[in-house]
Amino acid sequence: MSILIRNGRIITSVGDQIADLLVVDGKIAAIGNQLEANAETTIDAQGMLVLPGGIDPHVHLHLPTPAGYSADDFRTGSIAALMGGTTTIIDFVTPIRGQSIIEALKARIDEAANSLVDYIFHVSPVEWNKNTPNEIEECIEMGFTSFKIYMAYKDSVGIDDTALYHVMHTVAKLGGLVTAHCELGDDIDTLRDFYANQGLTTPKYHMLSRPSRFEALAVKRAIDLADQTQCPLYIVHVSAAESVKHIIQAQKSGQPLYAETCPQYLLLDQNLYETSIPEALKYVMSPPLRQSNDRDTLWSAMANGNIQTVGTDHCPFNLEQKMVGKDDFQKVPNGAGGVEHRLSLLFTYGVLTGKLSLSKLVDVFATQPAKIFGLYPQKGELAIGSVADIVIWNPNIKRTISSRNHHSKSDISIYEGFETTGEVALLIKNGKIAVENGKLSGTLPNGQLLKHQSARTTSHYYKRMDNSGSYNCGRV
Ligand code: URP
Ligand code: ZN
Ligand code: ZN
Repeated sequence: MSILIRNGRIITSVGDQIADLLVVDGKIAAIGNQLEANAETTIDAQGMLVLPGGIDPHVHLHLPTPAGYSADDFRTGSIAALMGGTTTIIDFVTPIRGQSIIEALKARIDEAANSLVDYIFHVSPVEWNKNTPNEIEECIEMGFTSFKIYMAYKDSVGIDDTALYHVMHTVAKLGGLVTAHCELGDDIDTLRDFYANQGLTTPKYHMLSRPSRFEALAVKRAIDLADQTQCPLYIVHVSAAESVKHIIQAQKSGQPLYAETCPQYLLLDQNLYETSIPEALKYVMSPPLRQSNDRDTLWSAMANGNIQTVGTDHCPFNLEQKMVGKDDFQKVPNGAGGVEHRLSLLFTYGVLTGKLSLSKLVDVFATQPAKIFGLYPQKGELAIGSVADIVIWNPNIKRTISSRNHHSKSDISIYEGFETTGEVALLIKNGKIAVENGKLSGTLPNGQLLKHQSARTTSHYYKRMDNSGSYNCGRV
């Protein structure tokens, strides 16, 4: 099957040119001016942007919680992803303590089989026991080289610093990467109980029990442990300006350190916790929303390359599930949706406001997630030989986000009423048309389980950075 895209504005993390792009049998076969090719399908992309398909490095589909599963399973969440230009997701394997990591990984692989986007997992050691080092090694041999740890949620999946040290030491030795949810779990639990014991249980106390300094101190601790163990570290959902200071300092010293933020931390304000129930429940997530100075710092850290990726932390619930905690913030399932809106929000509130260049947009949306998680250059790039995951983006269409028109199965949206500019005109996934004119193709095959490139072949990527101060996250 072949598709010729004519006269699009092709944007990569390092380039911007008007050209034609030819797709043959699932791969990009040629890029150039006035390509002479007889393709089965020709698309006129004049006036459109041509971008690599997005890689969302942080989603939780079909996540079990005490309030029930998150609202999207792999099918519905992947449809929402496609509608927003994302063709690959990275989800999580989270064993129950006592369960074998490998058993949990195999079960998760089965759960994801109906995904329409390609997928891979971060694997979470939720405890340190005699089997953990071998299990980490087995995961790496199976092609899963990213390990997610939680410093919060101490009563379920969170681990202490000793376990974290062991995980980092083991992962570093085997050439993998640790990704970290950084919030001081014990300190949060103390504050949470302090408020709850006084009957202070509205969503605002969720936010007050998780202050920025708990995130920043955890970031500092994780960075220090990663430095001690020589472990490459990726910090997920950075929300606070104080955290960014530690990240920049460590990157300047040459530590291999990557950071992610999310659209909610770039766009929403903690005043939303002051709204009434049920509205305030929508914003219960961890870390919580912050203030305008935090948002400003996140935008500039992204523009400067200190924050490399934007993930959505897509973890939506229905209002009924959120209402479980209407009288007690501790019972509200944490999380919100957004996998569909990453590109439109970054384009509207990043590119069109001048905070991000188009190339930086591509970098945080696709290229850096591919590089950091061992999927590059097959994914996250528009180059000859790369997989043909391609967004044709109409930069002029105006929309308003609403739970009434989004594709997630959640009946609420934290972006309700947000106006956006730009929309997927056409999406190509693995060389096949996946979305056209707002409609999902009825014949799209299921997505594929990916593997991170072998830790050994990507390990050069994690060499300590030089201390020139110019931080280059690219493959050497
Ligand atoms: O509130 C959130 N972010 N829920 C999902 C789990 C996590 O911590 O990433
Ligand atoms: Zn988290
Ligand atoms: Zn998450």
